[in-house]
Amino acid sequence: MVKVAVVGATGAVGEVMRQVLDEHKFPYSEIRFLASEKSVGKSLSFQGKTYQILPIAPESFEGIDVVLSSTPSSVSLVSSPMAAAKGAIVVDNSSAWRMDPEVPLVVPEVNPHHLDSIPKGIVANPNCSTIQMLVALKPLHDAATIKRVIVSTYQASSGKGAKGLEDLDGQVEAIGRGIAVPDAKAHIARLAGNVLAHDWKLAEEGYSEEEWKMVRETQKILGVPDLPVCPTTVRVPVRTGHSESVNVELVHPLSPEKAKEILRNAPGIILSDELKGDITPQPLMCEGRDEVFVGRVRRDPTVAHGLTLWVVADNLRKGAATNAVQIAETLLKRGIIPIKR
Ligand SMILES: NC(=O)c1ccc[n+]([C@@H]2O[C@H](COP(=O)([O-])OP(=O)(O)OC[C@H]3O[C@@H](n4cnc5c(N)ncnc54)[C@H](OP(=O)(O)O)[C@@H]3O)[C@@H](O)[C@H]2O)c1
Repeated sequence: MVKVAVVGATGAVGEVMRQVLDEHKFPYSEIRFLASEKSVGKSLSFQGKTYQILPIAPESFEGIDVVLSSTPSSVSLVSSPMAAAKGAIVVDNSSAWRMDPEVPLVVPEVNPHHLDSIPKGIVANPNCSTIQMLVALKPLHDAATIKRVIVSTYQASSGKGAKGLEDLDGQVEAIGRGIAVPDAKAHIARLAGNVLAHDWKLAEEGYSEEEWKMVRETQKILGVPDLPVCPTTVRVPVRTGHSESVNVELVHPLSPEKAKEILRNAPGIILSDELKGDITPQPLMCEGRDEVFVGRVRRDPTVAHGLTLWVVADNLRKGAATNAVQIAETLLKRGIIPIKR
């Protein structure tokens, strides 16, 4: 039984975090919920009980074993070391710590061994698009060694948090009522009835920050620092559930049939490859599910040993809350928490 703090408990990920903790029957002896000053004093409910929201302050982390944090990076930069200094292990959903060489970046199905060393008391949860891609690719990497990855994403509005959903829902409602569509606030432009190939901050070489996250996080998690990964990240008018078209070039031959057999037996994956229309992985099918759905497994005829896959998962679950809870469960299984004080 551990003492848990959920930081950013009022956000899009924080809300799902509460659901996942409940569904997974995460064993705790005490749980606290923290958010911004704006929410302090308000209450929220969890497992039939009402909790007052606490501020992000050192005393809120007193005696806590594990922190599940989902705040903006600028907040995590301060709050996660604050909690770690109080002796907690922090599982941080933001991008603040992911590329720190002293912070393990973990997908439990892929690199749980990276939890062997947690020098700063912080474990980073990868980017949502990276997590689902790597759950699907790791078993293929083990079987035939990945040489190169090309990926295009179809990312949901909730990837931008509660404000992203406010944008999309407000626009859809206005269209339905035949009134003026409100301007986008979280997304770069109107999303309802549209597709945005540029909805993230631009970074080096014309690629966005989101695209670079997919490159660098994949290399770090797989432990292949020079692995070629070429992403195009795209926002689509879907509330929850990211989809990805992945072309993976392999060193060794691997037939689509063998790949399907491997994926069918891999942890955290539901292979849904039969082309019967409604069972090809779709965001609506994956909403509220912890697994990564894989379909459309076929040969990529443009390279010697290549496969093409369609990969879909709930970005708020496996892309964030579920992965964080699974990291905490792994820490529990390994006896790393509760902390021996
Ligand atoms: N959405 C996704 O699919 C996804 C996936 C993976 C990772 N992430 C990452 O997870 C984090 C949270 O994302 P989200 O989508 O849940 O965002 P969100 O809906 O905007 O929620 C943000 C949370 O952080 C709190 N917060 C905001 N500003 C704060 C401040 N100055 N001080 C203290 N707390 C503050 C908010 O509290 P108040 O309600 O009190 O403002 C809220 O609880 C982000 O770093 C995001 O990049 C998100």
